[in-house]
Amino acid sequence: SLGPARRATYTAGMEQFDAVIVGAGAAGLFCAGVAGQLGVRVLLIDHHPKVAEKIRISGGGRCNFTNLHTGPGQFLGANPHFCRSALARYQPRDFITLLRRHGVPFHEKHKGQMFCDRSAQDVIDVLRAECAAGAVTHWQPCTVEEVAVAGANQGFVLQTTRGTVTASRLVVATGGLSIPKIGATDFGLRLAQQFGVAVVEPRPGLVPLTMPPAEWARWSTLSGLSLPVRVVAGHGRQRIAFDEDLLFTHRGLSGPAALQISSYWRPGDSIQLDLTPDFNLLEALRETRLRSRKLLANELATWLPTRLVDAWITGNVDWAVQWQRPVAEVKEKALAALAGQLAQWSVAPAGTEGYAKAEVMVGGVDTRVLSSQTLESRQPGLHFIGEVVDVTGWLGGYNFQWAWASGYACAQALAASRSQASPTTL
Ligand code: FDA
Repeated sequence: SLGPARRATYTAGMEQFDAVIVGAGAAGLFCAGVAGQLGVRVLLIDHHPKVAEKIRISGGGRCNFTNLHTGPGQFLGANPHFCRSALARYQPRDFITLLRRHGVPFHEKHKGQMFCDRSAQDVIDVLRAECAAGAVTHWQPCTVEEVAVAGANQGFVLQTTRGTVTASRLVVATGGLSIPKIGATDFGLRLAQQFGVAVVEPRPGLVPLTMPPAEWARWSTLSGLSLPVRVVAGHGRQRIAFDEDLLFTHRGLSGPAALQISSYWRPGDSIQLDLTPDFNLLEALRETRLRSRKLLANELATWLPTRLVDAWITGNVDWAVQWQRPVAEVKEKALAALAGQLAQWSVAPAGTEGYAKAEVMVGGVDTRVLSSQTLESRQPGLHFIGEVVDVTGWLGGYNFQWAWASGYACAQALAASRSQASPTTL
C-alpha cells in the first residue's frame, strides 16, 4: 500500500531511469514512446497482464482514436482552459500522421470521429512499436508497492514486484476508475493524496443513467428503442445540450445522448429531452389537421416511433379523451400543449450505472495544481497525464486525444529536464 510520503535513505545498487511511467494505457504508452525517442531512459510499468485493454475494447473494438474537431470546448473540468496548451501542441492530425506512417487504415465515421478500419489492436501495435523505437523498458505485469522521494531534487524510489528502481521523474498514467475488471485502480488518486496533490471528487462519466424503478415501469417496455433527441442539462450559462441518439433500457436511458449528458448530470438534477428535435411538431400537426381524418394518436405515430406513442398514451389520464379524437377535432391549445410536452420532457434520473459501465471518470487530479505546459504537479518531478487528470472529454474520440496530447506535453518536459540535468556530450 502507499503510505505517507517519506524519504528513502538508500539508493545504491538499484536500477536507474530518467523517468518511470506507471500505467501502460493510452497516455502512458504514448508518452513513453515519445520520451524514449527523445533520448529519455524510460521504464514503463503496468500491473495488468494484458497491454492497453481499454484501447482494445474502445470504440466497439475499432478505437475512436481522435476527433477532427477537438478543441477545449469539448472537455469538462474544474479549470476549463487547462487542456488548451497541450491540445494545441499535439493535434488530431499529428496522431493521424503517426497512424499513416505505420500504414494503419482508418476512416471518419461521423462528426469528426476517427476509427480504425480493422481493429483497435492496430493502435496498440503502433504505440508498442513507438516504445520499441524509443528503447523503452516495459515491465508488465508489475506492481508498484511503494513510492518515496529519494532526497531533495533526487527524484523517486519505487519498490516494485520486479525490484527497486529510481528515477528523477515519475509520471502517473494510471487512468480513471471505470471498468475495474480490466485493470482500473485508484493508484493515481492515492499517490496524489500521498504527495498532497489536490483531487477533484471523481464520479462516473459517459455512463448510462438509471431511473426510479416505479416511475420507469411505464417506459421500461421501450427497452431497445432508439431515436434522435436533443438532451439538455443545466440552466443559463451552465446549460449544455447534445443532439444525439437516445436508447431506452430496462433501467433507464443509454445511447450517446444519455452518455454525453451523464458527465454533466449531478444527483438530484433533472434533464430535459426534446423528442422532436429536427422538426416543429406543432406546425406539422396544424397542417395535418387541415387534411387528415386520422385519430391524434395515429397521426402522432407518423412522426414518432409507435411504441413511444403507445407508452406516452398509456397512463396519461389528462389526454385519454384527446388521443381517440380525429386530429382535426383537437383544439389548438391541446395540440400546443402536446407538442410542448414532447419537446420538453423532464426526467429525473435516480443515478448512473456506475464505474462498471462508465467509459470515463469525471474529476481526478486537480488541474489547478498542475502545470498546463508540463503536467508536473507541485511535487517536483511528479507528473500526471491522461484520464487520471481532471480533464474529461465528450464521447467521440476526445478522451484519447487528451491522452495523446497530455502524454506528448509531458514527454517534451521529461526530455527537457533530462538535457538540463545531463548535457549531451558528443
Ligand atoms: P488507460 O485506462 O488507457 O490506462 C491506464 C493503465 O494504467 C491501464 O493499463 C491500467 O492497467 C494501468 N494501471 C491502473 N492502475 C495501476 C496500478 N496500480 N499499477 C500499475 N498500472 C496501473 N475514448 C475515446 O477517445 N474513444 C473511444 O472510442 C473510447 N471508447 C471507450 C470504450 C470503453 C468501453 C471505455 C471504458 C472507455 C473508452 N474511451 C474511449 C475512454 C478511453 O479509453 C480512456 O479515456 C483512455 O484509455 C484513458 O487513457 P489513460 O492512459 O489515461 O488510461
